[in-house]
Amino acid sequence: MAKKLFIKTYGCQMNVYDSARMAELLAPLGYAATEDARDADMVILNTCHIREKASEKVFSELGRLRADRRERGAAGEGMIVAVAGCVAQAEGAEIIRRAPEVDIVLGPQTYHRLPELVARATRARAEKVAKPGPFRGAGLLDTEFPAESKFDALTVAETSPVSAFLAVQEGCDKFCTFCVVPYTRGAEFSRPVAQIIAEAKALVAGGAREVTLLGQNVNAYHGEAADGSTWSLARLIRALADRVPDLMRIRYTTSHPRDMDDDLIAAHGDVPQLMPFLHLPVQSGSDRMLEAMNRQHGADLFRRVVGRLRDARPDLTLSSDFIVGFPGETEVDFAATMDLVRETGFVMAYSFKYSPRAGTPAAVMPAQVPEAEKDARLAQLQDLLNTQQRDFNRATVGKVLPVLLEKTGRREGQLVGKTPYAQAVHIDADPAMLGRMIDVRIEDLGRFSLKGSVETMPFVTAHSPMEVRA
Ligand code: SAH
Ligand code: SF4
Ligand code: F3S
Repeated sequence: MAKKLFIKTYGCQMNVYDSARMAELLAPLGYAATEDARDADMVILNTCHIREKASEKVFSELGRLRADRRERGAAGEGMIVAVAGCVAQAEGAEIIRRAPEVDIVLGPQTYHRLPELVARATRARAEKVAKPGPFRGAGLLDTEFPAESKFDALTVAETSPVSAFLAVQEGCDKFCTFCVVPYTRGAEFSRPVAQIIAEAKALVAGGAREVTLLGQNVNAYHGEAADGSTWSLARLIRALADRVPDLMRIRYTTSHPRDMDDDLIAAHGDVPQLMPFLHLPVQSGSDRMLEAMNRQHGADLFRRVVGRLRDARPDLTLSSDFIVGFPGETEVDFAATMDLVRETGFVMAYSFKYSPRAGTPAAVMPAQVPEAEKDARLAQLQDLLNTQQRDFNRATVGKVLPVLLEKTGRREGQLVGKTPYAQAVHIDADPAMLGRMIDVRIEDLGRFSLKGSVETMPFVTAHSPMEVRA
């Protein structure tokens, strides 16, 4: 009988990608996914360390699992519990100390060793269950930054979502003064070109029609090609567009303003598969804050990059990340952020209150901003961002846009797709249309998405494009 695996994923797209790869690594051991931790023979918490309370969340989740396991009685002692991801990397030893029932703690760069760790944990469990005394987990810890690349050991499943993630780059060397990522993910690393193209082809063969290229600093990509040359992200995107038939859409995230090179900007104008929506975090509109954050650029460079991107692709829309209440931020600095938001016309964004992270330089900077001030600024910023997002969505009502149908909706007969600008659209359409691009007339504004109707069907043959090629 198949064993059941429950993975809970926190944090960014990198963790989403990693969780899918962990599931694939465990499939040959007989593990199949379940949606309920209480049924699971193995639970993985894939954790995020980016803002405060991250580790507290992990410990309270572990507490819940303890109760689930008790409910299952003796059978529950067969449940393997693993903590993966960025909290595991940062606080692995502490997790084992405070939660002795944990079996495996492993970092973002060692999860390819999961099958071996699970085998060891299973053996250790069997020995411990046979002995009387309090229940303890195997307590295996693997959070090194290994010499080998995890990617060499990874595979992709036979079937893929219509819109799939593809990690091309890992880690970060930028050391923004607020950020834990360089410590939890390690140094910057780019996967070789051939490996990425092979993975993209496998994803498309499994049904993907869109890939989002991932990395903490995805546009710092500099991967090695077969001839020994080093490729930029732009070159990689061009190759994917040329060499992967049926790949209709390409996106990438997260990029850094300083790494938007000429060729990447040009690619936005001349690669039709590259979608006109870009997540480009700027954090603040104040040069003083950008300097204190060690972002290595000012507001001016950001404005110039955006201007050039829009010259290349006039309908380009932008989203971003913002931090309010960074140490030393004054009302004047905050006003500069509000100005930049208005001027750039971001159509969506993530915004956060600055959260001090132990071990990062900003945590010990003077002039920490009081919580109430942070709250007030965040509310003001989010109000503006929400208004801009609503205005943009409203402006698309009445237009006909190409929509890639990605998944079924909650209601029967309903599909969910995305516009080129990454807006979700609900449409009544046949599930057989999943994975196709259709023209959709945007009819109305829902609470979280747009509503549309099918305008024109593509030319439908008796065969899917893949069957025709085979
Ligand atoms: N590599 C990406 C983002 C990584 S983290 C980049 O450079 O933009 C995602 C977002 O979390 C960041 O863009 C930032 O806005 C936010 N963030 C990171 N550390 C934070 C902290 N200590 N407090 C509040 N927000 C933070
Ligand atoms: Fe963190 Fe800065 Fe690196 Fe982004 S660029 S991951 S914010 S250190
Ligand atoms: Fe969180 Fe790690 Fe991603 S800290 S944001 S899961 S890189």
